[in-house]
Amino acid sequence: MSQKLEKQLAAKEAIKYVKNGMTIGLGTGSTAYYMLKELEQLVLNGLEIIGVPSSENTKKLAIEMGIPLTTLDKIDRMDIYIDGTDEFDPYMQLIKGGGGALLREKVLAHNSNLVIIIADSTKEVRRLGEFKLPIETIPFATANIGRLLNKMNLHPIVRLKDGKNYITDEGNYILDLNILNVSNLSVLEGELKQIPGIVETGLFLDMAHKIIVGKGDKTVTLSR
Ligand code: A5P
Repeated sequence: MSQKLEKQLAAKEAIKYVKNGMTIGLGTGSTAYYMLKELEQLVLNGLEIIGVPSSENTKKLAIEMGIPLTTLDKIDRMDIYIDGTDEFDPYMQLIKGGGGALLREKVLAHNSNLVIIIADSTKEVRRLGEFKLPIETIPFATANIGRLLNKMNLHPIVRLKDGKNYITDEGNYILDLNILNVSNLSVLEGELKQIPGIVETGLFLDMAHKIIVGKGDKTVTLSR
């Protein structure tokens, strides 16, 4: 079964949690795209919801699909946040940010009553870290932070796009870290967040309430 079909099945299952009148945080990436396509159809059929996009890219797609949008400025909390992930482990911990939207994604997930992660079966890992951990850093401090993280054996790589620094929607840079040798990820999260100039990390620890995984022609839901 293809990854595409697994993503579509997971998105369809997640959409069952969406009810009329809800405010929905809209994730970013190729899996979240199928969730947007499901919402597009429901909105066409008369469902009244309002979305809060986690990236400029998702905002553009949602506008094209006719999904009504608002911004975090205007609301306190969202009913649901639905997004993909780069990896998830058996304890429902995640690495996100492969698409570069980790900062806004984490803000929206933090402010949502129900966080639903949708994934194809390739995203499931026994231990996080095969996928490099993205962290968002301010340009002013990025080179300096990079040297510090090198000393911490995290082997940072500055993310590039077309030969230049990748720039996030918030105007920051991304460093991708090798965390395979790190034994305690919550300790790492605390250490990284204490370094001035690191704005956010792609570790989403204890944030997902449900992970819906497409597996072949079925879905499996993990819940906390
Ligand atoms: C965007 O910054 C990411 O967090 C994505 O949600 C994550 O990379 C999953 O993307 P795909 O669904 O494209 O694999």
